[in-house]
Amino acid sequence: MSKTLKIAVIGGGSSYTPELVEGILNRKDELPVSELWLVDIEDGRRKLEIVEALTKRMVKKSGLNIKVFATLNRREAINAADFVITQFRVGGLKAREKDELIPLKYDVIGQETTGPGGFAKAMRTIPVILDICREIEDLAPNAWLVNFTNPAGIITEAVKTHSKVKVLGLCNVPLCTKMDIAKLLKVDSKRVEADFVGLNHMNYITNVYLDGHSILDEIIKKYNKPEYREQVEAISDIVWDIDFIKSLGMLTSPYHRYYYITKTMLEEEKESVRTNGSRAMQVQRLEKSLFELYKDENLNVKPKELEGRGGAYYSDAAISLISAIHNDKNEIHTINVLNNGTITNVASDAVIEANCIVGRNGAEPIHIGAAHTKIAGLINYVKSYEKLTIKAAVSGSYHDALMAINANPLVNEYADAKAILDELLIAHKPYLDYVKE
Ligand code: G6P
Repeated sequence: MSKTLKIAVIGGGSSYTPELVEGILNRKDELPVSELWLVDIEDGRRKLEIVEALTKRMVKKSGLNIKVFATLNRREAINAADFVITQFRVGGLKAREKDELIPLKYDVIGQETTGPGGFAKAMRTIPVILDICREIEDLAPNAWLVNFTNPAGIITEAVKTHSKVKVLGLCNVPLCTKMDIAKLLKVDSKRVEADFVGLNHMNYITNVYLDGHSILDEIIKKYNKPEYREQVEAISDIVWDIDFIKSLGMLTSPYHRYYYITKTMLEEEKESVRTNGSRAMQVQRLEKSLFELYKDENLNVKPKELEGRGGAYYSDAAISLISAIHNDKNEIHTINVLNNGTITNVASDAVIEANCIVGRNGAEPIHIGAAHTKIAGLINYVKSYEKLTIKAAVSGSYHDALMAINANPLVNEYADAKAILDELLIAHKPYLDYVKE
């Protein structure tokens, strides 16, 4: 552990950054960070300044010698970085609001990472992440890119397929799942492991272990007991019908709700928009109050209120991953990586979200074999849509885009696919102008 590290965070003005900073400070003994660069764009200047000041106060409190830089010059931040973390949101929360609201007009789920919303977010993001990759190839060819930008699986696959950058895609869901299972069992989360089969936000938990012993059956037995309801709900953001869980024989990700109970979720979303605004609107309100807190010159820790965001604990996932690489730990992390035969009935060149052994050379997925027929169809359905989306973002072809949105499992009617696409292209013109007939 000789060398000190330069970390660049793209989207550094995000309200999530204090999570990352906390993660770095908590691992001070194993992660010798000397430079932390926070990068943002002109539109995010004010937020960047606030986050920079809070970061400096947090570092000062820790007594560590970490130099904090904030810049609008991405190249300067990437130059000679050891790790680049991407957590930017093209178009900000205003664009997310459109992703959530436009599909709803057509009675289609409007959601940040799934359905047409996730499609539009991917189409805005892929050209930008590929530009960033060109800069990494040029200025920091040995750097690891740790990507959080959503839809994380698609973005990671775009990077894998269209650049030489060493990328690992991360999501907080697998980590939160294990934490929630630990809460249900009233044990320390370090004692819990899980087998995941699938993709980002499409990942099934096919087994759960406590101290290495399978306990999936025990969890399924607890599943419909009223006294466990709250803890069970936390695992997948829903309490499924017990017969569904018994017939599936596994647990789900929170995002499976959109696929298995689509009508119910659609009604829930519409109701939520009527009463409380879409999730993007709620998050904008939360962000406003978070930034008010961040401005406080006496604040020098990550405020508890940040845990109200869905991405809570992602710093743990990111910084422990970086530490596993830097310290060649060879420990298990759940990462978005190239399938390469790990799931035998999913395309080899697809990015999947799987348990991997992580060390100096990156992440080596642990072999899974075939995904069960119960779930293989939906996983491959989503993967085909993801691949078509990457193709459309790279070609810039309207017809490729139409095929991609049409291939999304949440879009059931061709006419809706076309109408939603056309409306998204107009609504996001500044970012999607590159899509042409
Ligand atoms: C989950 C997902 C993230 C997503 C977040 C949304 O944690 O894993 O991919 O970004 O929720 O949270 P928000 O507070 O923005 O709705």
